[in-house]
Parts: sequence; structure tokens; C-alpha cells
Amino acid sequence: MSNIELLKNAVPPLLGWYRNHKRDLPWRENRDPYRVWISEIMLQQTRVEAVKQYYLRFLKQFPTVRALADADISEVLKAWEGLGYYSRARNLHAAARIVAEQGFPETPEGVRALPGVGDYTAGAICSIAYDLPCPAVDGNVLRVLTRLFADESNIDDGRTKAAFAAALKEAYPPQAGDFCQALMELGAIVCVPNAAPLCEKCPWEKLCRAHLAGETEKYPVRAEKRARKVEELAVFVLEKEGRFALEQRGKSGLLAGLWQFPLAEAGALRPEAFGDTVATKRAKHIFTHIEWRMTGYLIRAREFFPAYVWADAEEIAASFALPSAFKAFFSWLGNS
Ligand code: ADE
Repeated sequence: MSNIELLKNAVPPLLGWYRNHKRDLPWRENRDPYRVWISEIMLQQTRVEAVKQYYLRFLKQFPTVRALADADISEVLKAWEGLGYYSRARNLHAAARIVAEQGFPETPEGVRALPGVGDYTAGAICSIAYDLPCPAVDGNVLRVLTRLFADESNIDDGRTKAAFAAALKEAYPPQAGDFCQALMELGAIVCVPNAAPLCEKCPWEKLCRAHLAGETEKYPVRAEKRARKVEELAVFVLEKEGRFALEQRGKSGLLAGLWQFPLAEAGALRPEAFGDTVATKRAKHIFTHIEWRMTGYLIRAREFFPAYVWADAEEIAASFALPSAFKAFFSWLGNS
């Protein structure tokens, strides 16, 4: 049996399973393209559990694309605070300004052209909002399909993704939105990563080639990961009269434009230059390609150094987007 035939046979049991077992998620209440779009952007690189609360709060704050377009970017970044990958928030805001003028695009090409929307997200939006046969192949879907097909291709090779997208396109049923989400759902709650997928709960138990061969742990096959670059940093939490020093990051690159405590390469600046150190703390934060290993210094600052913006804890909470990379040091804002 060809992969496409196998996939076509796999569609009905998958749709039946999805109807009975799908999770009750806030973005599944309706198919309004604005809501689907926001959810798919938030779900890029971010776990469902982490997204739920952000999604609900964001929609309350920006209930329409017009509300989002009219907001200031600093409000959008603040609402995004803690979700990570902040360029998503900037792109969302830029796209909202386009959509507020032109209406939400209704073709795959139009959706794909919005800032921040790649092939995967365009596929998900068009499937879910419009029931169009547009594949959305992410890591979950790659894993599910490599197991169904017992395919040993390297999933980090773009050709694997392209081949699966082509097979999916042939197999799409009219219920495209359900099919798209059912594939994601199967990857999230049954065909989970690593050695122990829950095959006894899987609608494909009798179809999956990897399972039938007793080799689910073999898939997906991937190339060796490149090691992350490790950076040693010093984080200076300077406090004076209940106010804290903040600086804004550069306009491009990692966490562009967000706010931080004065930050330097380890050894480049000495804490004594600012005042007396009253506490220190080690922390780390892992980004996709970089790992930060930080030593934090809580310092009673000798003066209001004019290179920084000084704000109290309340102002910081209300108006400055501080990435969660610095979360380990937030408790110092409350008890100094
Ligand atoms: N991951 C990406 N999109 C998703 C969706 N719509 N539902 C659940 N998980 C997802």
C-alpha cells in the first residue's frame, strides 16, 4: 500500500477519535479567523498549557483586530510578557494593522503573506478557519507520520516535511479543520515523543507500520542536534529608594527592544562599580540556540546612574516588558 493510500485509510478513524477525545481548548470555541490566527501564533514553539491563559487574557484585552491594530506596541509586548519569542508579538501587531484595513485574507497566499505567518501557520489557519486542504506539518505531525509510514527519513531535512505535506494534501477530507487539529492532537496526547507512545489508545493501532513492527521508539529519525552556544552573563539588579535600574535592549536580535536589568558579559563590569552587593543568585535560561548562565547581583546603588531608566516595582509590572529569562531575579523587586 502506498503512503497516500495508507493515509486515506487513516483519515476516518482519526476523525472519529478526534470527535470523542479532543481537548476542550479555548480557541476551539469557534472558527473566527482572528481568534484562530492569534492562537496559532501563540502556539508556535509554545506548549498548549502555557498558551491557554495568555490567549484568554489577550482576547479580552484585544477583542478585535481593530483593537489590536489601535494598540501601542508596548501594550502588545506587555501582554506577551513571559510567552517568549517576542518577534511574534511585533509581527502580530504589524499584521493587525494590515488586516484592520484590508480584512482577514481568505486565500492561502494571502494568509501566508502576513508578517509572522510561515507555511505551517498558514496551513493551520486555512485548514481550521476555512476548511481548506492546506497541510500544517510541525514536529508533532512529523513524528506521527514517520510512525504511521515507518519512514526513516531525517525529519530535520526539509524534503521530509515537503513529502509529508504533499501526501497530506492528497488525503485531506472536507473536514479540513478537524483533520488538521486531529493530527496535532494525536501527536500531543497519544503519539507522544520518546519511547512510550500510548498505542493502545490510538485510532491507528491496526494501521501504524511502526507499531505493527513493534518499533515505535525508532521514530522519528533525526540528525544530531547542534549544541547551543553558552554565554556567561552578569545581571545587575540595582536598587535605590525603591526604584530599579532598567535598560532597553537593542533594536535587533535576541529579545529586541525589550527591557532588562543592566546586563554584561561576565567579568566585563564589576558589581562594586555600582554600590554594595547584598545578595547574589545563579540562574540559567535556555533559548533555541543560546543558553544564558547568569550571576545576578542585588546591589544598593550608590546613585541614580543616568544611563538607566529607574522605575519602582509597580511601574515595572505595569509598563515594562521584562522577558522571563530574568524571572529568577524578579523576587528581588518585591523584598529589597
Ligand atoms: N498546536 C498548534 N496549533 C494547535 C491547535 N490548534 N490545537 C492544539 N495544538 C496546537
